[in-house]
Amino acid sequence: MFELPNEDDIVPHGIPQTPDDITEIVLKAMSHTKDARLREILTALVRHLHAFGREVKLSEEEFMAAINAVTRLGHLTRDRHNETMVMSDALGFSTLVMILNQERTPEQISPALLGPFYSRKDPEYPLGFNISRDTPKVGDIPLFVSGRVTSCDGTPLPDALVEVWHASPEGLYENQDDSQPHLNLRGKFRTDGEGRYHFRTIRPASYPIPTHGIVGEMLKAQSRHPFRAAHLHFTVSAEGYRTLVTQIFPKDDPFLESDCVFGVTSADLAMEFPMHDTGQAPDPDVRGRYCTLEVDFDLSPGVSRLPASPIDS
Ligand code: BEZ
Ligand code: FE
Repeated sequence: MFELPNEDDIVPHGIPQTPDDITEIVLKAMSHTKDARLREILTALVRHLHAFGREVKLSEEEFMAAINAVTRLGHLTRDRHNETMVMSDALGFSTLVMILNQERTPEQISPALLGPFYSRKDPEYPLGFNISRDTPKVGDIPLFVSGRVTSCDGTPLPDALVEVWHASPEGLYENQDDSQPHLNLRGKFRTDGEGRYHFRTIRPASYPIPTHGIVGEMLKAQSRHPFRAAHLHFTVSAEGYRTLVTQIFPKDDPFLESDCVFGVTSADLAMEFPMHDTGQAPDPDVRGRYCTLEVDFDLSPGVSRLPASPIDS
C-alpha cells in the first residue's frame, strides 16, 4: 500500500503550453525545497542541465548513451577504485572545485586536487621513516623529502600532520597493484618542535590513470593521452589551520602542461628534485645516486578538517 502525499506537499506546477515551459515548471515543482542551500544547488543544476540539452539539441540516442555512461560510473566503482571521481578529475571539475574552495594568496604554495587514492587509514611513522616498503628494484632512485610547515605569517607549526601518498615507479598505487606490499608509498608524519618534517621514499614516475572504463573511452574519443605528470600527493593539516591539499611535480616532467586531470594548477608546484651521486646520502644504506626534494608548506588560519577518502569504505 502507498501513502497519499500531504496536502502541503502537493505544489501545482502547471502543464507546459510550449516546449520552452518545461524548465520553469520543473523549477516551480522544486521551489518548496526546505533546505535553502539544497534549493539553490538544485535550481542551478536544472537550469544549466536544461540549457545544455537545448544548446546541443540532445538526441534520444545520445540521452540514452549518457544514462548508460552514468550507470557504468557506478558499476565500475568498487572499494579500491572510484570511477566517478576519476571522471570528475578528467573533466577538470575536481580541480575547479578545489580552486573555488582554497582561499590562498598568490604568495602561498598552491593547492592541487586530492585525486582518487587518498586514504585516511595510512599509518603514522617517525620522522625519517622510509615509506617505500618494497624490495628495492634496479632503477629505483631513493628520494629524501624534507621541509617545514609554517603559518602563512612564517610561524613554525610543531605537531602538524603531513600525509603523503604516491605511485610506484611502475605508475601504480599500492591499492591498484597486488604485487606491492600493503600500504606501500603511503604514510603520515608529525612535524618536530620547529615545524620540520622529513621522510624517505623513491622517486615516482609519470603514469597513466586507470583507463579500463568509461574514462578511458572518453579520453580515447577526445584524442587525449591518459598520463599524469609524476607527483607526490600531500595533505598538510594543523589544529586551527585550514588543511592544504596539494601535489608536487618534478620540474623536468614531460607531462606538466598536458596532465590528463589538469593537476598542475600552478607553476610553483613544479620543483627541482636534485640528483646526487656523492655517496653521502642521509641514510648509510644508500650508496649510489639519490635525489632530494625540499618543500615548505604554509597554512592559513581556519578550521582544520581532513578530506573524505574516495577509497576508504
Ligand atoms: C592520481 O593522482 O593518482 C589521479 C588523479 C586523478 C585521476 C586518476 C588518478
Ligand atoms: Fe596521484
